[in-house]
Amino acid sequence: MPAIVSSCDTRLQSSLAARLSGIKSFIGNTPLKQLEDEKTNLFVKLEYTNYSGSIKDRAVFNILSNAISKGLVNEKTTIVESSSGNFAISLALMCRTLGLKSIVVIDPNINVDYEKALNVLADKVVKVQQRDETGGFLLTRLQTVEEICTTKKNVYWTNQYENPFNFLAYHNGLAVEICDAMPVLDYAFIGVSTCGTIAGISKRLKEHYNSVRIVAVDIEGSIIFGNEPRKRHISGLGSSKVPPLLSQADIDDVVMVSEAHIVKGSRMLLRDHAIFGGASAGAMYYAARHYFNETPLSYKPSCLFLCPDKGHAYLDNIYNADWVHDNIDPHFQHKAF
Ligand SMILES: Cc1ncc(COP(=O)(O)O)c(C=O)c1O
Repeated sequence: MPAIVSSCDTRLQSSLAARLSGIKSFIGNTPLKQLEDEKTNLFVKLEYTNYSGSIKDRAVFNILSNAISKGLVNEKTTIVESSSGNFAISLALMCRTLGLKSIVVIDPNINVDYEKALNVLADKVVKVQQRDETGGFLLTRLQTVEEICTTKKNVYWTNQYENPFNFLAYHNGLAVEICDAMPVLDYAFIGVSTCGTIAGISKRLKEHYNSVRIVAVDIEGSIIFGNEPRKRHISGLGSSKVPPLLSQADIDDVVMVSEAHIVKGSRMLLRDHAIFGGASAGAMYYAARHYFNETPLSYKPSCLFLCPDKGHAYLDNIYNADWVHDNIDPHFQHKAF
């Protein structure tokens, strides 16, 4: 049954806890869709149906719920985070719903549409300009968060890279939904960035399914699995530091996907299954479709991948043929997919 919004504005309700429970029903219980595929029994979990449109709502909701219940966040707290993507969008919208102030720290590499959205949703957007000693912006962003936390009163940093309530959201939510819906699961293809999703999912799935194999899907240029850093154009997947939550994940195999393959996977998902997903869904779909090419199986395995967000934020890159041609693949043909 669809969730019903209370007729009174959620922000007028008395306590933070009451406001939180008002949005709970908009998070999780996402659709699981079976896709036609000749080699596998392939399923995708459509995480873009969450409150702000991405899988990150699960982590943000869980982190804020926990902080509110422990008294770390009250009505006057400002929530701060360094994020240029779905986490920031989710955080800013959820804070607005709860009547809390939010500050997000971003850098010049941010996708233009995310920046526009954050300027509307967040109370303050701080855009760092100084590169750190690694040549990137991550350390400057974290330093800026620290400065905000030390100079401003009553601030709470959600710290998505280290907060255990990030991965617990997936352990107690997403993974449980998968176990309840799928009687058999042989392979789960999971995209990685903070590694919150894979840390939460892998443990629960391994407990539930005897022989499930967890395949991490990362983007070339990310250093999570010890590869050399390289400039990346596509947001959502990958990291330029090893996320502490990686140590909590139980991973059997890693697939590194090139940006050209991510473009191809995203466009194939749209062309063949009418799923308009973001880049990481394309990466996971590409990995799932090609994983068994080299070592074909004697049976049709049950496979799962995630669609963390919708394609709208990627219209100027992976879904823009000129951009793909100029930045990713000079042989890319208009209407190739
Ligand atoms: C679109 C998308 N895909 C995949 C991920 C990876 O999730 P995690 O950070 O839990 O590793 C994220 C995280 O931001 C994301 O936004």
